[in-house]
Amino acid sequence: MTFWKLYKRVCAMFFLAVVALTVVQRGNGPRPKAKAWATTQEPGVTDDTSPGNWDVTSSNCSANLNLSSQAWFQALEDNFKQFMLYRHCHFFPMILNHPEKCTGEIYLLMVIKSVATQHDRREVIRKTWGKEQVVDGKRIKTLFLLGTPSNVEERANHQKLVEYENYIYGDLLQWDFLDSFFNLTLKETHFLKWFHTYCPRVQYVFKGDDDVFVSVENILEFLEGSSHDKNLFVGDVIFKAKPIRKKENKYYIPHILYNKTYYPPYAGGGGFLMHGTLARRLHWAAETLEIYPIDDVFLGMCLEALQVTPVKHNAFKTFGLVKNKNSKMNREPCFFKNMIVVHKLLPSDLMRMWHLVNSELNCSKKVELL
Ligand SMILES: *[C@@H]1O[C@H](CO)[C@@H](O)[C@H](O)[C@H]1NC(C)=O
Ligand SMILES: *[C@@H]1O[C@H](CO)[C@@H](O)[C@H](O)[C@H]1NC(C)=O
Ligand SMILES: *[C@@H]1O[C@H](CO)[C@@H](O)[C@H](O)[C@H]1NC(C)=O
Ligand SMILES: *[C@@H]1O[C@H](CO)[C@@H](O)[C@H](O)[C@H]1NC(C)=O
Ligand SMILES: *[C@@H]1O[C@H](CO)[C@@H](O)[C@H](O)[C@H]1NC(C)=O
Repeated sequence: MTFWKLYKRVCAMFFLAVVALTVVQRGNGPRPKAKAWATTQEPGVTDDTSPGNWDVTSSNCSANLNLSSQAWFQALEDNFKQFMLYRHCHFFPMILNHPEKCTGEIYLLMVIKSVATQHDRREVIRKTWGKEQVVDGKRIKTLFLLGTPSNVEERANHQKLVEYENYIYGDLLQWDFLDSFFNLTLKETHFLKWFHTYCPRVQYVFKGDDDVFVSVENILEFLEGSSHDKNLFVGDVIFKAKPIRKKENKYYIPHILYNKTYYPPYAGGGGFLMHGTLARRLHWAAETLEIYPIDDVFLGMCLEALQVTPVKHNAFKTFGLVKNKNSKMNREPCFFKNMIVVHKLLPSDLMRMWHLVNSELNCSKKVELL
């Protein structure tokens, strides 16, 4: 047996063991029951023209080879060539779907961008901030968003594990496009289409990464604290960001793709909160715009098209807390206690911080942020 085969077998067995244990635990625990609650449906929201099912069944969208004869195209870097060749491919079929997630009234739907191999991140999120629950009659649901595994040689194995995980938890949405950096915008547009199709009665959406700390308690407090209009879009918003023109940078954008001086205001993709009605309108905007390779900037462009300005809130820290990674701030539970989203925590740190924040903390002064 080769090392790889053995490695894969051990990984698979370990994963199945974890899954089996969890099933046993879940089987014993009491299941939260959804309370009936009065609808606060606003007129117009239920007037929905959505098809009611995912209407994309064909994956064949071929490369636009017509571009290759053009000089500006030839001058692009390989990753941008790849992006341009498939930019017109707007929608792909679903591999894993959960239409039932959105049945009934849902107060908060939490959707988390993830990739096939990050089982451990999803596992911790399900046990911490992503736990599905009912708080004061408000139902909270969680879903993870995936494309297809990017490792070609291991794709079939990774896909099997993903399907098994989905069989156990029933919380993965997967589309048939490659999970790559430049395809993150597809994840955004596919989610918006999915949401528009299946979720007419979700009041708020939290969308974020799988490596962040989130306080659901603070989200609920924030949403209740003031009356929010249907254009609510709040997060770690940056105004007047300039496109990055240094080729070495991960976020480099050539002029041919964007030639203005500033980006429209946009919220860091690590975690933001929006009203369900706005999410449905964003779907429309996303369909009318050309795909842009940076997902959070793309959403900023969609908001601009809808003439909605995103709101900056200090409890969303998606661009990193403090520059210094060793700063005490990164380990200070009293700080996390007052936040809504903090980027970026890997599974073990997230678990530890979650327990600290939810323990009997004595915070000398509660920073009022909400
Ligand atoms: C997809 O490709 C197959 C085989 O190339 C072809 O028969 C089919 O008509 C295509 N479907 C669409 C919607 O283009
Ligand atoms: C290819 O590009 C040329 C020039 O932009 C355009 O006129 C033509 O219609 C394109 N062909 C196809 C098949 O898209
Ligand atoms: C996005 O996904 C599609 C479908 O899997 C793929 O053909 C394309 O190359 C991907 N684009 C990038 C930039 O990775
Ligand atoms: C900037 O880009 C837009 C859209 O691609 C194009 O219409 C416009 O001509 C460009 N302006 C300049 C100065 O290159
Ligand atoms: C928190 O602080 C208060 C007042 O200083 C003290 O009475 C209490 O015992 C402390 N609780 C814990 C759990 O440390």
